[in-house]
Amino acid sequence: NFHAVIPAGGSGTRLWPLSRRDRPKFLHDVLGIGSTLLQATWTRAARLADPSHTWVVTGEAHVEAVSAQLPALREDRIVAEPSPKDSAAAIGLAAMLISDADPDAVIGSFSADHSITNEGEFVAVVEQAAAAAASTGDIVTIGITPTYPATAYGYIKTGALLGIPGAPTARRAAEFVEKPDAVTARTYAYSGGYRWNAGMFIMRATALLELIRQEAPALHGGLRRIADAAGSDRWSEVMAREWPLLEKKAIDYVVAEPAAAAGRVIVVPGDFGWDDVGDFDSVAKLRQPVPGERTAVSVVGEADVIDVSSRGVVVSETGRAVALVGVHDVVVVDTDDVVLVTSRTHAQQVKQAVAEAEARG
Ligand code: GDD
Ligand code: MG
Repeated sequence: NFHAVIPAGGSGTRLWPLSRRDRPKFLHDVLGIGSTLLQATWTRAARLADPSHTWVVTGEAHVEAVSAQLPALREDRIVAEPSPKDSAAAIGLAAMLISDADPDAVIGSFSADHSITNEGEFVAVVEQAAAAAASTGDIVTIGITPTYPATAYGYIKTGALLGIPGAPTARRAAEFVEKPDAVTARTYAYSGGYRWNAGMFIMRATALLELIRQEAPALHGGLRRIADAAGSDRWSEVMAREWPLLEKKAIDYVVAEPAAAAGRVIVVPGDFGWDDVGDFDSVAKLRQPVPGERTAVSVVGEADVIDVSSRGVVVSETGRAVALVGVHDVVVVDTDDVVLVTSRTHAQQVKQAVAEAEARG
């Protein structure tokens, strides 16, 4: 009775101009691995849940692209949102639809924008998390060893080992802090007592809904009215009326932080080559040839690269030739209407260019 939920929304502005509002990052083969981030997420989820138990929640505008990319996804397992309401609403609605049909369901939500290199280890860790979720009724997270003071992640303070059967490495989460400021992130990342939240939540669907009801009763009420219309001809009408009124907030704030404060969060340490693929620096890192080999330019896409003593990454959607001469750690992203040139160290600031481009219309 394990069900997988893939929330696929957000626009991924730090991966602009590849990632756009009408074609966000999860629909792209950002890593040049022959599958998009969404397809890779689906393939991983398929090792844990049957396709009939796998749900994707996405914007109305992306339903067609999502179905085309995931031929095994059932039509009645796609939930289309009229507008982005962040992850609490998306995952909460899926949880409600699932638990109405299967009150004992354990669900795992898996972000659509991650890279994982060791899938066998990933599956073993999620299986532990599912065992812990089923036997305790708590919210189970996966904790990644931090490698730098990231401010784009949640941090989980690890507590005592719990000794749960089937989940030998599961620990109590003493605290959950979503996206701390830079100073706090430094103390967390270097203290040794914290892990990054991998952005996956494994729990009984009913446990999640009970926490949403306590922490965000209006959100719970709206989701309840929507789910009550599932399968009826009132669905579109109820969705159009209720969805715009839902609170727009991430599950990390609505559920994980307060649940951890109440001692209801568990963390299973997971080190399986995880990366959030947040910006082009992480794309460059993930595309780097084997350490020790002569690092040159790695190419994502069809570009014909002419490289003279350069280092960096070229991401191409056009197949045009790109010539680089003597530039180091450069990032070139070539799309039909925009060319982005930045350095790996400035990749985080790409979202400022997006704001500027949007201001110009
Ligand atoms: N359907 C839907 N609608 N999905 C959404 C929406 C929405 O409005 N907003 C975000 N999502 C999806 C994203 O596509 C992704 O799969 C997941 O929810 C998480 O959202 P992100 O926007 O990518 O979150 P984040 O990366 O800033 O932070 C989360 O992930 C980090 C790890 O990558 C948090 O869980 C952090 O604590 C965590 O460290
Ligand atoms: Mg993310």
